[in-house]
Amino acid sequence: MNYIRQIVPSILTADFTKISEYLNSLQKIGMKMVHLDVMDGHFVPNITFGPAFVNSLRKHVSAVFDVHLMISGPEKYIPQFIAAGADYITFHYEPVLKKEKIMKLINLIKKSGRKPGISVNPKTDITKISPYLKYLELALVMTVEPGFGAQSFMYPVLSKITQLRKIIDKNKYHCLIEVDGGINEKTCVETVKSGANLLVAGNAIFGKNDYKQAYLDLTCQIHSI
Ligand code: DX5
Ligand code: ZN
Repeated sequence: MNYIRQIVPSILTADFTKISEYLNSLQKIGMKMVHLDVMDGHFVPNITFGPAFVNSLRKHVSAVFDVHLMISGPEKYIPQFIAAGADYITFHYEPVLKKEKIMKLINLIKKSGRKPGISVNPKTDITKISPYLKYLELALVMTVEPGFGAQSFMYPVLSKITQLRKIIDKNKYHCLIEVDGGINEKTCVETVKSGANLLVAGNAIFGKNDYKQAYLDLTCQIHSI
């Protein structure tokens, strides 16, 4: 159980007018990476922000940008997120599906010196992304249906995390496992025990009055397991 583990705050439910202030405060107390949820109103029933916002934020925040693209046709927009300063770029398996297209996207991200990730919805079999794990820096397992923050953690998905951890370890891949949706002080324990490295937390941080304390509590919790 000695895998790298980290809390990755998601800004989705935070006050967007104060994001850079929040992120700079979190960096001062140890935050290394921030999760940026891009939604298009097509692949998911919600709209957030695009590359222009990521580009603006890049000028004020030095943390690693973990960009989660919940969009159809990610090939159209990945170059813009690369130009905007995204570090990890994760696209969903479901709107792409075809092996040839998936490999094209991975190579596009890698060629630019950024880190590719693939995300799977709760109902998608984890073995669908097995062929790509050797090329990936990150595999993102959704523990809620993507689209909104503050939803309840789907416990049955834990078995997928365990399954993914076994595949990665058996093959000695360096791909990190990120888990996204419904992470809080209770659910983070089982998630880490299942083998996750990066735990995205939105509402459990920005839904609290003291977001810094909430970040510290979650961090402390995952390191005490
Ligand atoms: C959901 C997003 C998540 C979301 C998590 O579609 O991908 O990153 O912000 O938020 P919480 O932690 O509130 O479930
Ligand atoms: Zn996300």
